[in-house]
Amino acid sequence: MTLLRVEVDASPAYTVHIGVGALKLARAAFASERPRVLISDARVHGLHGRTLDPDGEARTLLLPEGEDAKDFAHLGAAVEFIAGASMDRRGCVWTLGGGAISDVGGLAAAMFMRGVAAVHCPTTLLAQVDASVGGKTAVNLSAGKNLAGVFHQPRAVYADTGVLATQSDDEFRSGLGEALKTALIAGEELLGLLEREVVRLRSRDEGLLCEVVAACVRTKARVVAADPLEAGGRKALNLGHTFAHAIEQVAGFGKVPHGVAVAVGLGLALRASREMGCLEDRALPARVERLLASLGLPPDLASLRRSTGAPLGARELVRAMGQDKKNRSGEIRLVLPRAAGKLELEVAVDGALLESWLP
Ligand code: GLY
Repeated sequence: MTLLRVEVDASPAYTVHIGVGALKLARAAFASERPRVLISDARVHGLHGRTLDPDGEARTLLLPEGEDAKDFAHLGAAVEFIAGASMDRRGCVWTLGGGAISDVGGLAAAMFMRGVAAVHCPTTLLAQVDASVGGKTAVNLSAGKNLAGVFHQPRAVYADTGVLATQSDDEFRSGLGEALKTALIAGEELLGLLEREVVRLRSRDEGLLCEVVAACVRTKARVVAADPLEAGGRKALNLGHTFAHAIEQVAGFGKVPHGVAVAVGLGLALRASREMGCLEDRALPARVERLLASLGLPPDLASLRRSTGAPLGARELVRAMGQDKKNRSGEIRLVLPRAAGKLELEVAVDGALLESWLP
């Protein structure tokens, strides 16, 4: 299959290579690195490490899977590891894994010698459609998710959609939640594609996955190029995320997969949009709810409580939302959809009112 290329016009500009075989393409570039430093986790490295590093000679740091890696202890270990590989300022840190691995590896690269390059090879749908592109890196604090980090654009991204066949169903569904978020930002074309192709999506049809990842990356590239540091338009990418981060924090980091929390957050953002008088497309909430259910994602907070057993009380969620980094002067600020492709970026919502709408 031919690989697709999406250019991200950030500074510096870089290419996202998408499709089956992207990891093989990455191999030659990785082989030319001196030193060859790879950050991954044991499961992903066991499955795909040899595709990128066939002779197993790279200096490889294996972090725990998922959110467990996103703390200062593992970030410190990653920076020490890079130093231990005798990297100099011309060096480049490669990551192979999901969004948590590119978050910690990208942040370690940004910190070492005040910044060496990073290349990401995302192996989850969520990281391919969102996390690996755009340069956000972070670890979690007890006060909230992703509260300590920097923007550090990668030098390149290799999104091999062939590896998505090895993702667990739960992880794959989580990626679909983030793809749906991107569709609500992009507009009718991508939203309609997801609605029409539920069956092929769930069966992980290779051609369709390549098309969906490329459409999501094109949307993200457009948004990031216009506002790389999230001063304005990039806030759109946080649609559903103020709710999602609160859900993840209250449930305990790592208990609810990020994209599943985002999926529920999208439904809650639509509810808030209706309550705040922003919603123009009155049919959109039911459409999104139907799509979430057919993709195997919880369509609302009550379903998430049932499926996870986590109490996720309205008061605790609103308190956690109050700590979100997108807020200003203690006000909760939400991205709210008016219609597919049309968002309101900073709507201040009163916490008590919000609590009364949460089911
Ligand atoms: N994941 C949202 C962003 O990259 O801005």
